[in-house]
Amino acid sequence: MKRIGMLTSGGDCQALNAAMRGVVKCLVNSKEQVEIYGFIDGYRGLIYGNFRMLEGRDFSGILTKGGTILGSSRTPFKTIKDPDENGLDKIDAMKQNYYKLRLDCMVILGGNGTHKTANLLREEGLNIITLPKTIDNDLWGTDMTFGFQSAVNIATDAIDCIHTTAASHGRVFIVEVMGHKVGWLTLNAGMAGGADIILIPEIPYDIKKVVNKIKQRNDNGSKFTILAVAEGAISKDDAKLSKKEYKEKMKNYKFPSVSYELAQQIQEMTGHEVRVTVPGHTQRGGSPCPYDRVFASRLGAEAGELILKGEYGFMVGYKNREVVKVPLEEVAGKLKMISPDASIVKEAKLMGISFGD
Ligand code: F6P
Repeated sequence: MKRIGMLTSGGDCQALNAAMRGVVKCLVNSKEQVEIYGFIDGYRGLIYGNFRMLEGRDFSGILTKGGTILGSSRTPFKTIKDPDENGLDKIDAMKQNYYKLRLDCMVILGGNGTHKTANLLREEGLNIITLPKTIDNDLWGTDMTFGFQSAVNIATDAIDCIHTTAASHGRVFIVEVMGHKVGWLTLNAGMAGGADIILIPEIPYDIKKVVNKIKQRNDNGSKFTILAVAEGAISKDDAKLSKKEYKEKMKNYKFPSVSYELAQQIQEMTGHEVRVTVPGHTQRGGSPCPYDRVFASRLGAEAGELILKGEYGFMVGYKNREVVKVPLEEVAGKLKMISPDASIVKEAKLMGISFGD
């Protein structure tokens, strides 16, 4: 008999359900008897002992469903060691609930913050298996996270739609893409949608270079320009500031996001009409794309197999086209960013895409 706890933590994404289904199908398909405890709303459920007993049939029909049947929440790692408003020690509470239910392991689906807490729980002696979810694709130790490809599809659709209207009106359009502090989503959707300028956090931009590209396109007869801008894009000047100076500057920042600042600058420097489109959380919503359904199912099934073998302390990831197990201590606390020297950046530049650098 295996007693498995499961939770989904942090911002949701597509294919969380597909991944959990993969784990459970693998377990149910084995000869092992299993009990599944689904903790509600992420770590919060484990802290406060809020769970639901789940059976194989609870995971039927959820392969194509976005979101998470367990609910999710953000439980920031930086305050995980602080007691809650009633003085409860959160780490201790999670351990207590784990031992009270006599769990064999916890399966934790999440991104960066989630992995820091998962690794802490491992250090505290709990058996942990994690699965890499996030539309940002910024998790260390895996070439790909599930949710990412679905989000690329949605952001690309947004750019495709903008293309036709931008062309009709001869406007400059900025499509702001999610991704937190990294540019994977913007770079991939930008290339897939044929953006002319792609601005990502890893390559700080010079507004003059951005404007030059727009003018150059104009001189060559292209009346419109599409920019795919990461929500975390940053100018060369801002990138030079210390963390403290940047924080101070942002206190008086008057724009809702970097795209609106860019729009004003481009409008002033070129005289062109500029519009901003922010697909926002649509990028995390809806049904997972077929790639993510397969990918998340595979990772889930491999996680199930690790549980059956009693191998804990790993994230199930994907490296060089193989599903691999990565020790949690290697994953936690590290961001996977795009190298400005990456071949995809070089190839984009070879095609004339500007990164504003
Ligand atoms: O990490 C996923 C993500 O969607 C990021 O791309 C984005 O910056 C953030 O979450 C938004 O967070 P929230 O849903 O809390 O607004």
